[in-house]
Amino acid sequence: MIKRTCTCGQLRLADCGKQVALAGWVHSYRDHGNLVFVDLRDREGITQVVFNPEKDPQIHRLARSLRCEWVIAVEGLVRPRGQGLENPKLPTGQIEVIATRLQILNTAKTPPFDIDAADKTNEETRLTYRYIDLRRPCMQHALRVRHRVMMIVRQFFDSLGFWEIETPMLAKSTPEGARDFLVPSRLVRNCFYALPQSPQLFKQILMVAGVERYFQIVRCFRDEDPRADRQAEFTQIDVEMSFVDSLDVMTINETMIAKVWKEIAGVEIALPIPRMSYQQAVSEYGTDRPDLRFDMRLTDVTDLGHQTDYKVFSGAIQTGGIVKAMCVPGGSQRYSRSDIEVTLTRFVQDLGAKGLSWCKVRQEDGQLGLALGAAKFFPDTMQRELIERFQAKDGDLLLFVAGPQQIVNKAIAPLRCKIARELGLYDPSQFKFVWITDFPLLEWDPQEKRYQSVHHPFTAPLPEDMDLLDTDPTRARSQAYDLVVNGCEIGGGSIRIHDINIQRKIFRLLSITDQQAEDRFGFFLRALEYGAPPHGGIAFGLDRMIMLLLGTENIRDVIAFPKTQKGQCLLTGAPSEVDQRQLDELNLRVQRHLQQDGPVV
Ligand code: AMO
Repeated sequence: MIKRTCTCGQLRLADCGKQVALAGWVHSYRDHGNLVFVDLRDREGITQVVFNPEKDPQIHRLARSLRCEWVIAVEGLVRPRGQGLENPKLPTGQIEVIATRLQILNTAKTPPFDIDAADKTNEETRLTYRYIDLRRPCMQHALRVRHRVMMIVRQFFDSLGFWEIETPMLAKSTPEGARDFLVPSRLVRNCFYALPQSPQLFKQILMVAGVERYFQIVRCFRDEDPRADRQAEFTQIDVEMSFVDSLDVMTINETMIAKVWKEIAGVEIALPIPRMSYQQAVSEYGTDRPDLRFDMRLTDVTDLGHQTDYKVFSGAIQTGGIVKAMCVPGGSQRYSRSDIEVTLTRFVQDLGAKGLSWCKVRQEDGQLGLALGAAKFFPDTMQRELIERFQAKDGDLLLFVAGPQQIVNKAIAPLRCKIARELGLYDPSQFKFVWITDFPLLEWDPQEKRYQSVHHPFTAPLPEDMDLLDTDPTRARSQAYDLVVNGCEIGGGSIRIHDINIQRKIFRLLSITDQQAEDRFGFFLRALEYGAPPHGGIAFGLDRMIMLLLGTENIRDVIAFPKTQKGQCLLTGAPSEVDQRQLDELNLRVQRHLQQDGPVV
């Protein structure tokens, strides 16, 4: 067999005159009758190989039989390409290899799609033939970046005395948060393991076990509907530390993030990363995941509502709601009445808002005023205050959403991002990081009629808010922090409760009875009783980090073997039926008549 001496991305003008051996896949071939040109591809790049009948008629004949994606090895002489025949798009584009030997290592069926045109191929086909899809340079790049990020992260934590410790994949089901993936046990009849939603309790137990500094690049499983940035099976960079406060955890982890961004994207992140309270984020951006690449902050104008008898505002305010607004710079020219009343209005309505009110800022006779839309309902004083509050200029557009606070924020925050994108208010290649802190510890769930943890039940309250747990629990803030980049949450963590009495109190507030707490978390509560040190940590979504670094909005682009929206692996056909014998061993029975979709068992 021809042994390769260099890769297909390696050769340059300086290598001319060398005898080399390459191996790879036939990316493309052009048969010009006398000369056969092959673009030979391996994971490092593409090199043009030329087969000349005058050099060796036998090899030339063999070369004419080559087809795309066949696997070959060639030996030959590196020489400069003729003048005007260079390919500036390829790093190897100034040279070619004149083949003196050719070995066909394997043939290939005609690929189901052209690798160069994969962008036009539907994703189902690409996922079914993932091994071909992954041959694409951009996919190879994604795999390489992912690998490099993991190496940087491992070296970073290792250098600071963190130990990577694996925690079980077959774990106990502790239903909280998302739905568990269950795995039936054969040896303990009628019992189930759960695949971990995160190693949260194990990493805390490792702190009780005296590990002090832990990290793990770990697969997590959540049986929830996949979205563009969410998979049922995803990877976390999971971290836990003892004897620390939130500042310690944020400082170490932002240093890790800065290192990754520097080494992978060449981007310098100024440290410390700015911090913003949850309250400020929600008030000024309508969300705890603010995109800070552009300004266009939201302003609560509920207090101006009493100046107008505009029903949209007064109706919302009378029922305890709010009015929030934003000023779109130059929006008057960019958005027509129908853009606003049809497209933008439909956008907020799809997000649950009743509608969108608007008016344009106009200068007339040297004076700024509001015109069109709802402006006729706004008296002069109110118009002046609005202009003043937004520092609005001629040609700006004011947009208002009125209603219950949560609904308003849910609609206006995405509207802010949509408009900024449409107006090109930011550079998409820029990264704006922010820590969101001082989250509420609990929120009231009106449907379940009980408090829910905003993060998870093991998050410590702020010491100064402890008393609020007895008097006004939803006002108590937690020692939690999320890292947000360009409106995407890439990590979240907290200082944990290490005092069993506080942990029990939180469970009770969450309407988890002592018995339920014992059944689900007894093992963990017992650990807290045996000298748990103060501790805290964080977990980052590795997939989301890679998405940001690569500038893709599809999480499947950064995972070698991802699942579809329905949680299926099109390559292997998982999930699939199993034999009756397997079911019998597990003491399971499938109710065939209840099957609605998927394979009928
Ligand atoms: P959390 O649930 O916030 O925290 O998860 C941490 C980070 O993981 C990423 N992430 C996901 N990525 C892809 N697909 C998903 N389905 C998905 N779900 C979450 C996000 C998120 O910020 N145990 C705690 C962490 C801690 O407190 O230390 C936890 O799991 O980027």
